[in-house]
Amino acid sequence: MAKTVADGFFNDPRLVEAKKLITEALGEHSSKITGVKPGNPELKESYDALLKKMADYRGGALFYNYLGSGIGNGPFVELADGSVKYDFITGIGVHYMGHSHPGVINAQINGAISNTVMNGHLQQNTDTAALLELISKEACKYGSAVKNVFLSTSGAMANENAFKIIFQKRFPANRFFAFEKCFAGRTLGMAWVTDKAAYRQGLPKTLDVDYIPFYCESDHQGSIDLAVNAMKKYITRFPGQHAGFVMEVIQGENGSWVGNTEYFEALIKVCKDNNISVFIDEVQSFARTSELFAFQYFKLDKHADVVAVGKNSQVCATLFTDDHKPKPGLMSQTFTGSAAQIAASYYVIHSIVNGGYLGENGKIQKLHAKFKSNLEKISKKHPEKLKGPFGIGAMVAMSVFNGDEAKSKAFTIKLFENGVLSFMAGGHPTTRVRFLMPVMVTEEKHIDEVCEIIDKTLSEMN
Ligand SMILES: Cc1ncc(COP(=O)(O)O)c(C=O)c1O
Repeated sequence: MAKTVADGFFNDPRLVEAKKLITEALGEHSSKITGVKPGNPELKESYDALLKKMADYRGGALFYNYLGSGIGNGPFVELADGSVKYDFITGIGVHYMGHSHPGVINAQINGAISNTVMNGHLQQNTDTAALLELISKEACKYGSAVKNVFLSTSGAMANENAFKIIFQKRFPANRFFAFEKCFAGRTLGMAWVTDKAAYRQGLPKTLDVDYIPFYCESDHQGSIDLAVNAMKKYITRFPGQHAGFVMEVIQGENGSWVGNTEYFEALIKVCKDNNISVFIDEVQSFARTSELFAFQYFKLDKHADVVAVGKNSQVCATLFTDDHKPKPGLMSQTFTGSAAQIAASYYVIHSIVNGGYLGENGKIQKLHAKFKSNLEKISKKHPEKLKGPFGIGAMVAMSVFNGDEAKSKAFTIKLFENGVLSFMAGGHPTTRVRFLMPVMVTEEKHIDEVCEIIDKTLSEMN
């Protein structure tokens, strides 16, 4: 006999049957989406009206003429005008499992039929305990001590919590180090960390941040020396005032710029010598290298004091060591995430860990090699139009028209019209076009097709 009413409910044969029917219906309809196609001319007028309404009510036009219909199939997404696109940006690195993934939808149903829409820090269901255990164990598997996991609903909030933890621990130190051109989110705090003037124009100053030049592959030792010296100069100028260093170890918003272990270790040594906490911002890089966490890829396990994850994890989280445990009262929020989100997060992370995606010979590395070699071929064909590719794992970027911002934007829009979603990154004079593919559902043939569309789009532009 069921020990709780919930046991009886969640195992009720009618629910099992209902979920089976939903999966069947989903498969039947979603499998009709098999490739890129243009919109249905009969829907053009109503779709354009919908886009206009959207722009009017949200206070500005969308970047792409994109309103999803609510269904897709793997890397393909159907828009409400009936067109189908390749989604190689996945909501800026969120839809790891592509569109209408039956396993993810099933997990979400389990969450959706539980008692409340949202879980919160005061009242959480058992699913959350399982999720925290999964994230914590995976984070600590090579010896990291970031075993505590605090959930939140955006990457910016996960980062805010990381900053709060570190400032409290290092009080009265009140400055932070960050990398030049980093991105950390859009709250009032994070706007002063993100190194982009336009993103904080008109905002009052909230944080004092000192910027350190990021790693430069073409000048390995030179860039290490430059960064270490810059840190030391700031420490001399503001002795004892640096609480932490936020390390975006792969710069996503800047265009998939990849760091280096020796470089990070040199900076971390300066941190440790000066009581500066090391905070790794993995909101974008989580599950996009050959390891689940990018700090594991760079072998920084022993050094991370605080880590933030988001996007692919479906729920955001701040991980921290016992040594960085905040005092009661510092952190809480109404929401941890919706019940459906928490169930989906467990499903997605569990699948990533167990599905052959990670490791030297995992799917991520294979997809990267394939995408890289295809883009290199296109670059040979159009050397003046495409440079790169750049990036790592499932964070791939290229530069078109020598990084010209206006032309890169025109390219992404034309690429969208031709059937592929990408997005801009960085800024003049090194604007890039980047791809965050849906790893779980991308196959090599999809990369071939996406590259054909990239090639065609470049040929259409001068
Ligand atoms: C490295 C990094 N940190 C933080 C954020 C902020 O995440 P969110 O947009 O969920 O607030 C992002 C988002 O792109 C990011 O790439």
